[in-house]
Amino acid sequence: MNELHFKRHRRLRTSESMRSLVRETHLQKEDLIYPIFVVEGEKVKNEVSSMPGVYQVSLDYLTEQMNELEDLGIRGVIVFGVPKEKDEIGTQAYCETGIVQEAIRQIKRDHQSLTVIADTCLCQYTDHGHCGVVRDGVVENDESLELLVQTAISQAKAGADIIAPSNMMDGFVAAIRKGLDEAGFVHVPIMSYAVKYASSFYGPFRDAAHSSPQFGDRKEYQMDPANRLEAIREAESDVEEGADFLIVKPSLAYLDVMREVKDRFNLPLVAYNVSGEYSMIKAAAANGWVNEREIVLEKLTSMKRAGADLIITYFAKDAARYISE
Ligand code: PBG
Repeated sequence: MNELHFKRHRRLRTSESMRSLVRETHLQKEDLIYPIFVVEGEKVKNEVSSMPGVYQVSLDYLTEQMNELEDLGIRGVIVFGVPKEKDEIGTQAYCETGIVQEAIRQIKRDHQSLTVIADTCLCQYTDHGHCGVVRDGVVENDESLELLVQTAISQAKAGADIIAPSNMMDGFVAAIRKGLDEAGFVHVPIMSYAVKYASSFYGPFRDAAHSSPQFGDRKEYQMDPANRLEAIREAESDVEEGADFLIVKPSLAYLDVMREVKDRFNLPLVAYNVSGEYSMIKAAAANGWVNEREIVLEKLTSMKRAGADLIITYFAKDAARYISE
């Protein structure tokens, strides 16, 4: 064997304590943001059929959910409203007494340790299920921006700590930044869904949020999964327009894009570990095909390794428990 020259990488893997000394990536509770679906009505706690363990809750059950997050040491929550009434222009999205505004007010009143992020989009609120105003079958960009600005301001008024526009209209960061500033919310940051692909991984979310488009799809405003350079252009314009955080969404099939966005832009990067990514693991785990705990930790760690500073994930509560164990 004397003539062989090679490196012994296994030296650094000989025990768990050795491995932990050289570990490069650490998942922490502070990295996790939990998504919550709030519905109108009383005593509603509906498990989403395609997302076991995820519930639509009414305001009276919100407290128990938020207490759980606080007890687990989770700091961030992103709120999605599911209104009863939908119309052409998504009125309930920017109504002062809309379900999401009420939920934000309640969380801010009762759970001060939580940072409340408001998802700013119209698709849960429009009867056609698109993320903006539809004219002649097309989602109108600039007209939609006006309603999205109103939505963001109403969410900031209700107390949202961060505005997270997910609608993929061009210029949404510039428009919302200007609107927030003029309304006196200069300190409210924008967490932009800068890079959002037209993905099949959103299916279960659309069950949870009742937000499937009633005609067509979202390919005229969300991105083509085949494109990498376009992701850079999207992120670049959001940085110029004043975004404070950048989201890449979905996560697992887009870790390459995440890494590239992280390397190019000096802003906190957020991975959105979306509904379909959650449901696939849940389904496989329920069948005994994968070890849920191990696979969840591996997945979330891979997002951090790819450059994510924060992760929006339906696994946040489970992951916080695993980290504490
Ligand atoms: C709203 C929105 C969607 C998601 C987050 N915000 C759905 C969509 O664009 O269809 C998806 C999140 C998930 O799948 O977990 N536009």
